[in-house]
Amino acid sequence: MKIEWYPGHMAKARRQVADVIISFDVIIEVLDARLPVSSANPILGTLRRHKPCIKILNKSDLADPEITQAWVRFFDAQKDVRALPYDARDRGQVGFITKLCKQLAPKRAKPGFPLRAMVVGIPNVGKSTLINTLAGKKMARVGDRPAITTCHQQVDLRNGIMLSDTPGLLWPDMENQDVAYRLAASGAIGDSAIDYLEVALYAGDYLLRRYPEMLRERYGLNDLPETPTALVEAIGHKRGCLMAGGEIDMHRAAEAFIRELRGGKLGRISFEEPSEETLDSTDNS
Ligand code: G4P
Repeated sequence: MKIEWYPGHMAKARRQVADVIISFDVIIEVLDARLPVSSANPILGTLRRHKPCIKILNKSDLADPEITQAWVRFFDAQKDVRALPYDARDRGQVGFITKLCKQLAPKRAKPGFPLRAMVVGIPNVGKSTLINTLAGKKMARVGDRPAITTCHQQVDLRNGIMLSDTPGLLWPDMENQDVAYRLAASGAIGDSAIDYLEVALYAGDYLLRRYPEMLRERYGLNDLPETPTALVEAIGHKRGCLMAGGEIDMHRAAEAFIRELRGGKLGRISFEEPSEETLDSTDNS
């Protein structure tokens, strides 16, 4: 699957982030809890160095809770990093972030000045939602456009923290095909850029191995198909995705499957676990 993701803008974003990151006390990196490695921006790790960082494992309401806890343990073991399973739509969780910011960067802010936190993350991961819930109001959307240095917004949370959003846009590593497929399956990539059938075959292969019971239950499949193609066919049959002549419309079946998967209809699913294999396959450093 080849997805055009404006790689030329990556260098510009790198320069913009490198220029401003120094002036922040803490980085709030928003990740998708279902795929915390693939939803990370590859340049951020190198630019951050030892700046304290809160990894928000967002959309944890859609992720496998046990795997999310494994990610929390994994990230918490890193120096200057704390991870927090999160649902950015939930205002009740706001206090955890402000508390962690103050814990991680207690002496960084100058006396009398607020602690400066920068929110970063790839498109669609939930940054705007998070900023809105933290601010307690809907902020103007800065936009999913690259190179917006001059107008990135600041929000005074009035609790000693000044929040800024990312200057420029941070992209995931779209060169890695596993990353691209996981992002597409989770919904981080716009529909116009993906081939549903390709993504469904990738996701089907993974789910048959990792979450067979969820497939069995959701689609009432007593005998699970052995291949991803047979799985999409079976889903098409169950969902009535038929062409003239009664043949399964594989593209419609694939789209139905991916939409249900993204919406959490199959259950809480994670696409990555902190195993050596996952980390090697997405090693961006
Ligand atoms: P961005 O700024 O990083 O680009 O992401 P944004 O906040 O726009 O969020 C992208 C989508 O993810 C939105 O859905 C948003 O509601 C959803 N979202 C954000 N955080 C969470 C979360 O913790 N859990 C779940 N389940 N969804 C979350 P949308 O359908 O694109 O927009 P909308 O219809 O909700 O407005």
